[in-house]
Amino acid sequence: MILVTGGTGLVGAHLLVALTKSNDKVRAIHRKNSNIDDVKRVFSYYFNDINPYFSKIEWVEADITDIPSLEKPFQGISYVYHCAAIISFHPKAYYKMRKVNIEGTANIVNLSIVQKVKKLCFVSSVAAVGKAIKNNLIDENCEWTVENSNYGYAITKHGAEMEVWRGTQEGLDAVIVNPGIIFGAGFFDSGSGSLFKTVNKGLKFYTEGVTGYVDVKDVVKAMQQLMDSNIKNERFLLVSQNLSFKEVFNLIAKGFDKKEPTVKVSKLMSEILWRFSSVITAITGKKPMLTKHSAQSIHKNNQFSNDKIKEAIGFDFIPVNETIKRVCKEFDS
Ligand SMILES: NC(=O)c1ccc[n+]([C@@H]2O[C@H](COP(=O)([O-])OP(=O)(O)OC[C@H]3O[C@@H](n4cnc5c(N)ncnc54)[C@H](OP(=O)(O)O)[C@@H]3O)[C@@H](O)[C@H]2O)c1
Repeated sequence: MILVTGGTGLVGAHLLVALTKSNDKVRAIHRKNSNIDDVKRVFSYYFNDINPYFSKIEWVEADITDIPSLEKPFQGISYVYHCAAIISFHPKAYYKMRKVNIEGTANIVNLSIVQKVKKLCFVSSVAAVGKAIKNNLIDENCEWTVENSNYGYAITKHGAEMEVWRGTQEGLDAVIVNPGIIFGAGFFDSGSGSLFKTVNKGLKFYTEGVTGYVDVKDVVKAMQQLMDSNIKNERFLLVSQNLSFKEVFNLIAKGFDKKEPTVKVSKLMSEILWRFSSVITAITGKKPMLTKHSAQSIHKNNQFSNDKIKEAIGFDFIPVNETIKRVCKEFDS
């Protein structure tokens, strides 16, 4: 039996679609207030009648930070896909992220060892990979250090990876995937999905910072192929293409038939904006529009290599323009 954590999120929901296509039963954990209707919406992008597939999911209430709650979902489990995490660039979320991303992953690893799970697949991030040496592309060997990536989310995803590597030392077989920014349909009010909503409303601003992007379908496919392979105790970057924010915003604008953003945001403008945004947050308590980290990262040029996964399993990525075209259509459906 397969166990999925984070099944009510972007990656987990699309993964459940793929797993229910090829398995009779899949177990997924959810929290008390998780929105399972979001998962149903994701299934509806794939199937006219979702019931034959959605009904294969055995939902069990559990929180990855609460060990006793995890005992029941782990019974009889052979394979674990660990997708649950908190993604935030707000400094206030740091301690919560430490708890969920690092301690939560340690719990999943420990239970996997105790239950003699055959293999664990952990969804990490490019945030847990180090910087490029000279002007080369960033690859899996670039070691993460706190000096070059000291923002909360990166620290906690690196800490989570350390828990998985520790598990492998204790006999657990594991694979780690490190996706870039993931695009997929179903969650347009949060994370990368909110970018589609913002551009659809009419975004005027862009930057020329560069990062890696990947289709959620490719993330799911790579996770399944790595789990089904003999590969173990390795990590793999998952990036289809490295593109500038300007290029990506333009592709989304085109997908919605909207005007492309025309105002380039300078580094100075971002520095002023995040400070202004933190004052507004202090007064209103609302989520900041921009944090110190996000203001700086939108100007960085981080380019990633996808050679390792291509060579290991002959993986082919969906081009980002195709992904964006499809997600824009699904946004409207
Ligand atoms: N989205 C991206 O662009 C991106 C890029 C690179 C890597 N990643 C990584 O990919 C993974 C999945 O990301 P995503 O985009 O699918 O995130 P998401 O949409 O925000 O979903 C997060 C999932 O984690 C669950 N979760 C959070 N705290 C939990 C807890 N204490 N116990 C149990 N479940 C908990 C959430 O459950 P609820 O529904 O109950 O909140 C939800 O199912 C994460 O590890 C993330 O770091 C994401």
